[in-house]
Amino acid sequence: MTHSNKPLLKVLAGETVSPPPVWLMRQAGRYLAEYREVRARAGDFIKFCFSPDLAAEVTLQPIRRFGFDAAILFADILLIPIALGRKVWFVAGEGPRLEPFDVRQFEDLTTDTVRSVLGPVGETLTRVKPELPDETTLIGFAGAPWTVATYMVEGGGSKDRFSARVAAWQHPEAFDGMLERIADATAEYLVMQAESGAEVLKIFDSWAEGLPEPLFERVVINPTKRIVDRVRAAGVTVPIIGFPRGAGSMYARYARETGVNAVALDTGMDPAYAQSILPDGMPVQGHLDPAALRAGGDALDRETDRILDSWAGRPHIFNLGHGITPDVPVDHVHQLLRRIRERG
Ligand code: CP3
Repeated sequence: MTHSNKPLLKVLAGETVSPPPVWLMRQAGRYLAEYREVRARAGDFIKFCFSPDLAAEVTLQPIRRFGFDAAILFADILLIPIALGRKVWFVAGEGPRLEPFDVRQFEDLTTDTVRSVLGPVGETLTRVKPELPDETTLIGFAGAPWTVATYMVEGGGSKDRFSARVAAWQHPEAFDGMLERIADATAEYLVMQAESGAEVLKIFDSWAEGLPEPLFERVVINPTKRIVDRVRAAGVTVPIIGFPRGAGSMYARYARETGVNAVALDTGMDPAYAQSILPDGMPVQGHLDPAALRAGGDALDRETDRILDSWAGRPHIFNLGHGITPDVPVDHVHQLLRRIRERG
């Protein structure tokens, strides 16, 4: 199968490309002046995500400025709870807030309104697609059920997701029922994104860290596999990247059991260990420390080289190990891209 001229799709089809394609998590964001300008006009963050014109514009901004190999849809993982009938809002300077949710009420979650509520997100993809250079890949995404559920149960971000873990142990049937509903809504959402032009789908499990194996299996592996199976059953064939951030040794089972085509690695992953536990030839994405990008200078060059060297023998997409921070000077991004593209 040929993937024309898109390096990122070649890597996800199992080719080793040198220099590797590169994009950055949260590449549309506050470190860009042009983003802050649109953000100031957009007002409410959720309304911004549901405004296809503005969302398409900020999706394209980092492509115009840096020529990344992929554009990632501008949206948020917390749009799914809205489609499930929950209230979500963002407090400036603090982050997301959700109305409290008792997992024993999981049957109240509505899964039949995904396409109507999240339709504007599909429209964003439809608008971005024709504006992209031929070699640039369009990535759609969603949060994984566990990560989304932690926000629903905690009512927002939390230090260690303790209440969500308590609920998972205390009410296993209700908790797993809730995860299945979130998974079904998410699968429908991802199918819609593929139909709207997404060429890759990424599942963000940002809070997969620190879970004992039985819980990891229940709340990370099973719901992720459910999503992948449903997306495939709907006839969608685009590659799926899974990002179980912080999963550590559990990356091994995640990579083998969920059905994802590639894994995104976090900053803490030792490449030699990852090589030993991941299936032969499975593409990886990652995993520069966002703090090294913020630091710049020789430290950034050395870390960039280490990541490039570590993955030279495997299909690799260069990225950060977590999102870019708002304080990163754009010159550091240019420095990173020069360093990567000098190789080859
Ligand atoms: O990567 C991209 O450029 C695409 C857009 C994107 C956003 N959020 C936009 C956003 C993506 C892929 C996300 C994913 C997301 N959202 C995750 C998973 C990835 C990760 O970083 O672990 C999570 C946990 C969220 C939830 C979320 N959204 C939080 C906790 C916050 C507040 C923290 C913050 O940075 O302000 C958001 C808000 C948000 N989502 C912003 C952006 C650009 C910043 C809000 C603003 O501009 O006012």
